[in-house]
This record gives sequence, structure tokens and C-alpha cells, in this order.
Amino acid sequence: MQKLELIWIGKDDAQEPLEPRILIENPQYSYGTVEETTLPSGNPWHGNMLIHGDNLLALKSLVSMYAGEVKCIYIDPPYNTGNAFDLYDDMVEHSIWLSLMYQRFQHLHTLLRKDGFLFVNLDEQEHAYAKVILDGIFGRNNFIGDIIWQKRKGGGNDSRFLALDHDYILVYAKDSSKSVHTSKWTISQTEEYLKRYKEIDENGNRYYWDTVARNGLQSPIPVSVECPDGTTLSINSQMGQETINEGLKNGDVRLTKSKNGWTLHHRVYMSEGQRPRSIFNDSGTNKTAADEMLYLFGSKKSFPYPKPELLIQKILELGSNPGDLVLDSFLGSGTTAAVAHKMGRKYIGIELGNHAYTHCYPRLKKVTDGEDQGGITTAQNWRGGGGFKFYELAPSLLKEDEFGQMIINPEYNADQLAAAMAMQEGYTYQPDKDTYWKQGYGSEHDFIFTTTQFLTAETIDRIHETMGEDESLLICCTAYQKEAKTRHGNITVKKIPKTLLGRCAFDKDNYNLNIVAAPEMDDIEDEPEDETTF
Ligand SMILES: C[S@@+](CC[C@H](N)C(=O)[O-])C[C@H]1O[C@@H](n2cnc3c(N)ncnc32)[C@H](O)[C@@H]1O
Repeated sequence: MQKLELIWIGKDDAQEPLEPRILIENPQYSYGTVEETTLPSGNPWHGNMLIHGDNLLALKSLVSMYAGEVKCIYIDPPYNTGNAFDLYDDMVEHSIWLSLMYQRFQHLHTLLRKDGFLFVNLDEQEHAYAKVILDGIFGRNNFIGDIIWQKRKGGGNDSRFLALDHDYILVYAKDSSKSVHTSKWTISQTEEYLKRYKEIDENGNRYYWDTVARNGLQSPIPVSVECPDGTTLSINSQMGQETINEGLKNGDVRLTKSKNGWTLHHRVYMSEGQRPRSIFNDSGTNKTAADEMLYLFGSKKSFPYPKPELLIQKILELGSNPGDLVLDSFLGSGTTAAVAHKMGRKYIGIELGNHAYTHCYPRLKKVTDGEDQGGITTAQNWRGGGGFKFYELAPSLLKEDEFGQMIINPEYNADQLAAAMAMQEGYTYQPDKDTYWKQGYGSEHDFIFTTTQFLTAETIDRIHETMGEDESLLICCTAYQKEAKTRHGNITVKKIPKTLLGRCAFDKDNYNLNIVAAPEMDDIEDEPEDETTF
């Protein structure tokens, strides 16, 4: 059956599979204390991650570790504002943007947990196109709605037709069904609302006393109560006689005397929370975010178009709970990671630009040290703690030598080669402390061992002697003795790089959106200080 889908130039171009790259920690930019725990699935979690590199390759490598583990993804990709590309043919430019985002959306979908959510922040240029692509990947029934974020409250008078004041945030659930989401989204009550519920009962629930008598009721219920002084109070009530009698017994209704005589009151309990509204006009603006840049980095224009922490806080409140894993693959100045850190979420942030070092790292360091007093710090009562690890995307495992032959990249050391081969072959890299040839496992009894030593029949025999009867082993090596290849039925030998050739696109790094040098900011100074709308 023909399905409804968006077509663009290059959508169906055959793409060589991406190379699964390993992530190499750069300890110079790791900071604080990183707690090694487990994710709800039971899989290990090695701590918060900041990754410097192209997000398509980084997402590919994360898929091998964290597929189905991420609870909430927020992305704020470059908006395709036209002049950002070298190519000015609008159709091509538009198609490139769609193709690049399409691949990334597919990976993001794979990374999401069954009960996970995706939030995609876009402006009017690509929002509708992204919606159609995402409908295709997530299914239309998993589209939750658009959040309209009011990004400025003034200015825009230089616009020709409309002063466009808002961004769209597309919201998808991986699976929106009631069986997966048994409870509704709620947001905490406003201060004003809370003030009203000033009494607290013996169970810690908040309530206030409201009068039972009501004038002007459509269907008033006449009730009467005997007062302690022998008089009778007769009123038009919103509650029935039986409920009142019961309430007087259990304390939910009380009779009090004031100078105007006797009055009946009943307890009104606070509801658990409110349903969030789709228009966010109280979540900070571009100006709020620029002020956060000024506070953190000394200049409002230190980073173009960051998002305010309050906006991300509201999104993470909706899409995640403390301890959940949050991802932003267009990290920019590091807002999502900073907010996730202050809100007690686990996080992964990916950024291609140099601002991974100049913005994300120092910002998260300040958050860790409790030195960032801005953004949502006070609201979250954040005082510091925790930490993160900083990773670089490894270079390609294979590269072309001067004779045009693919060789193992000399930049790889033995450990990195072993980790890369484990990833290539679908094994989990986890060297065993006691048995040198158990560098990674595929299943409980299946292992991988990578070596750059010449593999002899004698070495294989020695390994075989130490293997359990039900164990199997894949050995990846650069050269081996002919007799070693088929020596034992439970040991497979593969030669690198030969075994890798043709599997995926090696030696290719340029998958980026080519918009790392983000556009100059509009003048945000024209937004009035008091943010009055006009
Ligand atoms: C609009 S900014 C995000 C701003 C962010 N929400 C904040 O609050 O600071 C988009 C970011 O995506 C990054 N980016 C663009 N292409 C990328 C790619 N291929 N991989 C990783 N990051 C990329 C850009 O360098 C830029 O920092």
C-alpha cells in the first residue's frame, strides 16, 4: 500500500553504513566525581558524558551501548536559515538539511526507552517538514503536540509582515499508549495556588477550609446542623446532609462561631498537579538566555541563540524523572546538560563545535563546583556535586596509506583497537582482570580477543587449553600462521583490516550540518527589560 511520506532530493540515495566509532575519554576535560551505577534495564552506566564530535557518528556509537535506554531527548538543531550552507540552491539546501536530520532522528528513535519522549526545537522554516519526517519514524499516533515557546516579548518591528515571536517544540512519545504511560503528565502547582492551601493534615496533605453555604447555587441543598449552644444552623449547601453529618464526625467538616454566628466549613484538598499547557510564555526568552551567557561567559553574544535554563527545566520535568537518562545531541553552550545536572538526571551531550571546550566544559565544571548561581540553580536548590566524563570521537579505524591501501589507523593503540574491534563485531568491550584473551563478551560463553602480534598455532593451543568446554572465542589479528586458522572448532580467526573492508564507510568524517559557525544573533537588545508584550 502506498504510504503518505515526504520525498526530497537524495532521500533514497544508497548510504554506506556508518562506521561505529569508539569514544575515547579526554581526561583533561573530565571533571568531578563520576558515579558508576546501572540503568533501569540493569545495563551499566559509566557516568555523565560530554562528547566532542559529529553527532551522527556519536549517535551511532551510543546506539551500540544505550539503545532503548534514554528517557528524554531534547534537541535544538541548526534551523536551516538559508545562508548557512555553501550551496545556495534552496531545494538542495533544504534537501541536505532533511537528509541529515532524517538519519539523526532514526538514531534518536532507537536510543529512546519504550516510555521515552523526544522534544525537537525548531522555527517556522523546517518545523512542518520535520513533523512529516518524524511522523514517518515515530508513527502519527505517537505525536503528542507542539509546544509554542514564546522566545521574545518585544522588538521584531523590522519584520515585514509578522513579528515571529515563537519557536515550535515538536513532542513525540516513543509509544504513547496508555499501557506504557499509566499516569498523566502533571506540573507542580504555582506559588499562588500553593499559598491558598495553607493547612496540612495528619498525613501531610495540603488543604484549606472553604464555606459549605453558597448563595446563588443552581441546585442548592437545604441542610441543617445542631450547634453546641442548642441553636440550629440552616443553610443552602453545596453538599448533602449525609456528607455533612459524616464530615462532622471524621473532621472533614467543622462548625465554627464568629461574630456573624455559626458557619460550616469543609476541607478542600489540593489536587496532585496541573496538566501542562502547550503555550510556554513564562519559560524565559532569548533575552533570558543571553543574560545567562553574560553571567557565565562575560558576554551576551558569547553563544548565538542558546536556550534559557527555565525552558529546558520545564521540558525535563515533563519528559523525565530524577535519575533518568537525558540526551541532547546539539548541545551548543551546554544548557541541557547543565539543567539535567542540576535536576539530578543522568545525561549525554554531544557538540561538534569548539564550544564543547570553551562553553560546555567550563559551564558544567561551574555547575559541578556549585559556582553557577544562575539559571535554575535556586529553584532546584542546587549546591554542587557529581561530575562528568569528556569524550572524543575516535578517528576512523582504517585509513588509506600512501599506496591507496586501507590500513589500521596508526593513531590507535592496542586497547583502542581491541575496543573498536569489539564494537565492530557486536561484542561488549570489557577486559577480564584475570584472563587476557577475554577482552569482551558477546554472550555469557562467547568472547573476543584482538591482537597485533603474529598469531601462531602454539598461541592458539595455549589459549584453547584455558578455555571452558562451552566457551567460544573470536580472535582478530593482523597476521596469523596458516595452521592457526582452523585449529579448534570453538575458535574463529579473522584478519584485520581484511575482515572490515566493505562493511561501512571508513575514513569519512564529514557528516556535519556544515553550520558549526552559527549565524550572528539578531540584536536582542531591542527587547524591553520588563518584557512587556506589544
Ligand atoms: C542552536 S545550537 C544549540 C543551542 C543549545 N540548545 C543551547 O542552549 O546552547 C545548535 C548546535 O548544534 C551544533 N551542531 C551542528 N551540527 C552538529 C553536528 N553534526 N554534530 C554535533 N553538533 C552539531 C552546533 O555547533 C550548535 O552548537
